[in-house]
Parts: sequence; C-alpha cells; structure tokens
Amino acid sequence: MLRTRLSFAGAALAATSGVLFVAVFLVDLFGFHTNPYIGILFFLVFPAFFALGLLLLPLSAFLERRRRRAGRPPSELHWPRVDLNDPSQRRAVFAVALLTMVNLLVVSLATYRGVEFMDSVTFCGQVCHQVMQPEFAAYQDSPHSRVTCVECHIGPGAPWFVRAKLSGTRQVFSVLMASHERPIPSPVEDLRPARDTCERCHWPEKFHGDKVKVIREYAEDERNTETVNTLRIHIGGGSERLGIAAGIHWHMNVANEIEYVALDQARQSIGYIWLRDRQGNVREYFAEGVTSDALQGRERRRMDCMDCHNRPAHPFALSAERAVDEAMATGEIAATLPYAKREAVAALEAAYPDHGAAATGIAARLRDFYRAQYPTVYASRRQDVERAIRAADGLYRRNVFPEMRVGWGTYPNNIGHMAFPGCFRCHDGSHASRDGTLIRQECDLCHDFE
Ligand code: HEC
Ligand code: HEC
Ligand code: HEC
Ligand code: HEC
Ligand code: HEC
Repeated sequence: MLRTRLSFAGAALAATSGVLFVAVFLVDLFGFHTNPYIGILFFLVFPAFFALGLLLLPLSAFLERRRRRAGRPPSELHWPRVDLNDPSQRRAVFAVALLTMVNLLVVSLATYRGVEFMDSVTFCGQVCHQVMQPEFAAYQDSPHSRVTCVECHIGPGAPWFVRAKLSGTRQVFSVLMASHERPIPSPVEDLRPARDTCERCHWPEKFHGDKVKVIREYAEDERNTETVNTLRIHIGGGSERLGIAAGIHWHMNVANEIEYVALDQARQSIGYIWLRDRQGNVREYFAEGVTSDALQGRERRRMDCMDCHNRPAHPFALSAERAVDEAMATGEIAATLPYAKREAVAALEAAYPDHGAAATGIAARLRDFYRAQYPTVYASRRQDVERAIRAADGLYRRNVFPEMRVGWGTYPNNIGHMAFPGCFRCHDGSHASRDGTLIRQECDLCHDFE
C-alpha cells in the first residue's frame, strides 16, 4: 500500500498527528497544563492534519491507478540503503538526527510562545482591536484587570475535558462571527457556569455581613447641589454549617436553587422563576399575565453569579449622569464650577462620529459655555475648566464607542434597579406563586439607608 511517496507522506502525517493528539490529550487530562488555548490549537490543528494524511492515501491510490491505466509501470518507493559502517554515511545520519532534535526544540518553543501569546490579554483584547475595544477599555479599568480574558470566557480544562475544549473553540468562533454584529450582543451564549470560572477565585459561602456604599449625585442647577445616599447593602451569603445563610448571596447558597425562563434574548424580562429551598420545598412564580404556554421552547437557566454580576470585567457607567456624578465626587470635574453637571452631561450625550470628533466637540462646547456665560470664572479658573474637559473626554472614551454602536446604557447592568430592571426583574412585586405569594420587594430586604 505504501508504495508511492504520496501515500507514505500521508501515512506519516496521519500517524504523527494522531500520536501527538493522544499525547496532548493525556497530558491535559492529567492536568499538566490547563491552558484553554491548547485545546483550540491542538484540537483543531491535529485532527485537520490527521484527516489530510488519511485523504492522501486514496488520492495516491487514485493517481497510481491512472498511472497503470496509462500503461506505465507501477511506481516503487526506493528506500535509501544506509550503511553505518561507512564513515561518511554515519556522519550524515548523526547530523540528521542532531538537527531533528534541534528542530523539535525550536518548534516546541515556538509553539509554546504562540500558545502563551494566544492566552494573553493582548491577543484577546487587541488583535481584533476595534471589535473588542469597548470590552477591552472597560476591562482595563475593572477590578478584574489582572484576570485574563480566558479565565472567565473559556476556563480551564480538567473536569469536563473534551466538552470544555469544544465549547472553548465554539466560543472563539462565535465571538469571531458575532464580531459582525455591532454592538457585540450580550449575554454571551454558552458562557461557562460560574462554578468553573468565578468560583475558582471567589467562595460565596465565605461572604457575609454588609457593605456600605456611598452614592453621591449632583443636580443640574447652577450650584450642582449634592445629594448623598448611604446604602448598607446586605451582601450576605454563608452556608448551612455557618448558619448565616441570608442576604443577597442567599441566591447562591449551594442548597438554594433558582432557575428562570427569560422572555427576551437580553434576559431583561423574566417570565417564570422556579425555586427549591434548603428544605427541598419547591415554589414557582409567574410574572403577571404569563402562562406556561408563553414559556414553551425558551431556555431554562440556572441562576448563577453572572445573572447579577453581568458586568464584572466590562463595567460601563449606568448613564452619562452617573458617569459625571462619579467624576464630580472624585473632584475630576470641580463641583464648584457653575452648571458643571448639566453642561458635562449635555456634552457627553451629544452624538459624535468617533472619539476624535468627540474630543473636539466636548472641549468646544464646555469652553464656549464658560467663555460666553461665565467670563470671570473662565478667566480666573481656566485650569478647572480644562481639567473638566479632559475628564469629560475620558468618560466618553471609556463608555461610548460610536464605531461599535456602543452608547450610554447599551449594556444593561443587573446590579441594582434604578437605571436598569436589575434585581427588579424578579423583585418587582408582580411575580406571584399560585398561592399569591409575591417575591419580596421591601426595601430593607436588600439594603438599609443610613
Ligand atoms: C471576571 C471575568 C471576565 C473577564 C476577566 C473578562 N470577561 Fe468578558 N465578559 C464577562 C461576563 C460575565 C460577560 C457578560 C456575560 C453575560 O452577560 O452573559 C462578558 C462579556 C464579554 C463580551 C460580550 C459583550 C459584552 O460586553 O457583554 C465580550 C466581547 C467580552 N466579554 C470580551 C472580553 C475580553 C476581550 C476580555 C479580556 C480583555 C474579557 N472579556 C475578560 C466576564 C469576563
Ligand atoms: C482569577 C481570579 C478571579 C476570577 C476568575 C474572578 N474574580 Fe472576581 N475578583 C478577583 C479579585 C482578586 C478581586 C478583587 C479585586 C480588587 O479588589 O482589586 C475580585 C473582585 C470581584 C468583585 C468585587 C468588585 C468590586 O467592585 O469591589 C466582584 C463582584 C467579583 N469579583 C465578581 C466576579 C465574578 C462574577 C466572576 C466570574 C465571572 C469573577 N469575579 C471571577 C479575582 C477573580
Ligand atoms: C442575586 C444577585 C447576586 C448573585 C446571584 C451574586 N451576587 Fe455577588 N453581589 C451582589 C450584590 C447586589 C453585591 C453588592 C453590590 C456592590 O458591591 O456594588 C454583591 C457583591 C459581591 C462581591 C463584593 C463583596 C464585597 O464585600 O465587596 C463579590 C466578590 C461578589 N458579589 C461575588 C459573587 C460571586 C462569586 C457570585 C456567584 C457565586 C455572586 N456574587 C452572586 C449580587 C449578587
Ligand atoms: C431570577 C429572579 C431573581 C433575581 C434577578 C433576583 N432575585 Fe433575589 N430572590 C429571588 C427569589 C425567588 C427569592 C426568594 C423569594 C423571596 O424571598 O421572596 C429571592 C430572595 C432574595 C433575598 C432574600 C434572601 C433571604 O435571606 O431570604 C434577597 C436579599 C434578594 N433576593 C436580593 C436580590 C438582589 C439584591 C438582587 C439583584 C442584584 C436579586 N435578589 C435578584 C429571585 C431573584
Ligand atoms: C431585591 C433587592 C432590592 C430591593 C428590594 C430594593 N433595592 Fe434598592 N438597591 C439594590 C441594589 C443591589 C442596589 C445597588 C447597590 C450598588 O450600587 O452597588 C440598590 C440601589 C438603590 C439606590 C441607590 C441607587 C443609585 O445608584 O442611585 C436607591 C436609592 C435604592 N436602591 C432605593 C430602594 C428603595 C426605595 C427600595 C424599596 C422600594 C429598594 N431600593 C428596594 C437592591 C434592592
């Protein structure tokens, strides 16, 4: 069978890639490396070479048949006759062996570097630069800027090995495909469950207690009047054993299970909720006017971290107002500049074709306003005005991406309930069980005001 060069090359290719495939498979299976991209590289490349090798065999047989039909003698593969007693042949064989080893070393180092690069944030965030620009900009500014993209988006291999590899591969393709959609749709389909990603670093059973959050807002009057809301948020958590299963992370208590069915693709409208509590009692809630029929054929999803923390690594300001509030709270935009809130928000909400045009537009608008309306302020506090302009421009670059059609509020944030439905997707006083019990909405269920 291996009578032609082509068939020999095919067999060699199939055998080598087959052996390498099995080797990488075993190495990964025993957890020697848990690099998500190894899967994509090897589980796509090796099978492709394997198939190519196998295809060469019938091709070679076909060519051989044609050759014979044409009346030419069957081809023969002549192997070189090696005689290691001949010093010059011996040297040649050793040289080939040595060079092969060096080659293998170089190739494996190169592959390793390649894989390492694919694993890097640079690859994910910057190779398809424009497409990922919004997510990358937000990511760099998030609490997870030291966590690599693949740690959340693909996850490590060990437990459900092959499935993880395949879904990792599929995810990369789906992101590439989705890259034609602007903005990239959220939620991400088939994101790995939180227990394989978030819970490798966070341990919800260990959460407890309250978190105090101070929210400063500024009115659109001349003095930018400040209001301060101090929330004591009942983070909660805990486990059966610790006996403190309460608060917000109660949802995540291992013993409580919540599943839900969303009525829209963005999971913002929730039609049905199924709850099994620690004692094993099951309760179902339906949104007002929703019947079982309306739920037919829709995905039933187990609630996990990402259903609340859907922007852990890609946070955008809830709105232009909130972005400016934060900049004023930190002093980047001086709250003592007259109408700073109103003017900055108006400058940020105007439409610009790209970041460059926005920079010019925002600067022109704010400068013109102070020069025309408050000439003395403009003269004496020029630096504050320029600082406010820089801050506003920064807010725009960080939150709005005209080329990707990402604007204020494009991506809902599920933590809270003011700017987006968030917690009130369920806790809105209209989700009732058959006996009429509503999902609770009392304000102090989740936070107290101080
Ligand atoms: C801490 C975990 C985490 C890290 C790190 C992370 N992401 Fe995400 N990413 C998420 C979650 C969660 C979502 C939203 C999923 C959902 O709602 O279904 C998301 C969504 C996305 C989306 C879809 C569009 C959107 O904004 O919702 C893209 C694209 C994306 N991430 C790219 C990246 C890139 C590129 C990196 C690295 C620079 C990265 N992610 C790092 C958790 C992460
Ligand atoms: C590789 C480890 C790692 C992974 C994976 C990870 N996180 Fe984190 N996360 C951290 C660290 C470290 C911090 C603290 C960062 C800081 O305070 O600077 C943090 C902080 C947070 C915070 C608090 C943020 C704040 O504003 O104080 C939330 C919420 C959070 N993570 C949720 C998630 C969710 C949801 C996921 C899964 C999508 C996730 N994390 C995946 C390491 C991780
Ligand atoms: C029901 C919604 C919900 C779910 C589900 C949820 N969280 Fe939270 N989480 C919150 C809220 C609300 C806060 C407080 C808001 C804030 O910090 O701005 C919070 C705070 C946190 C913090 C910061 C704690 C601190 O003390 O600062 C971390 C870390 C965190 N969550 C991780 C997780 C992880 C990991 C999961 C999944 C196991 C998870 N959360 C599931 C709603 C949720
Ligand atoms: C998918 C639906 C759903 C979403 C979204 C949701 N919850 Fe819940 N939550 C429930 C259900 C169901 C219960 C149990 C019924 C009840 O307590 O009335 C519950 C109970 C709670 C409890 C009471 C826990 C205890 O100690 O008994 C708190 C606190 C809570 N949720 C906070 C939040 C916060 C904060 C958010 C938003 C970040 C949120 N929930 C989002 C469905 C949801
Ligand atoms: C199911 C839980 C839940 C319930 C019930 C709830 N809240 Fe909230 N609320 C939250 C969470 C979570 C946040 C966001 C905290 C953060 O920003 O980290 C929030 C934020 C707020 C804020 C600050 C909003 C902002 O960002 O400006 C106010 C004000 C507020 N809630 C008022 C109320 C009032 C009034 C009620 C009673 C009608 C109520 N909440 C009921 C969970 C809840």
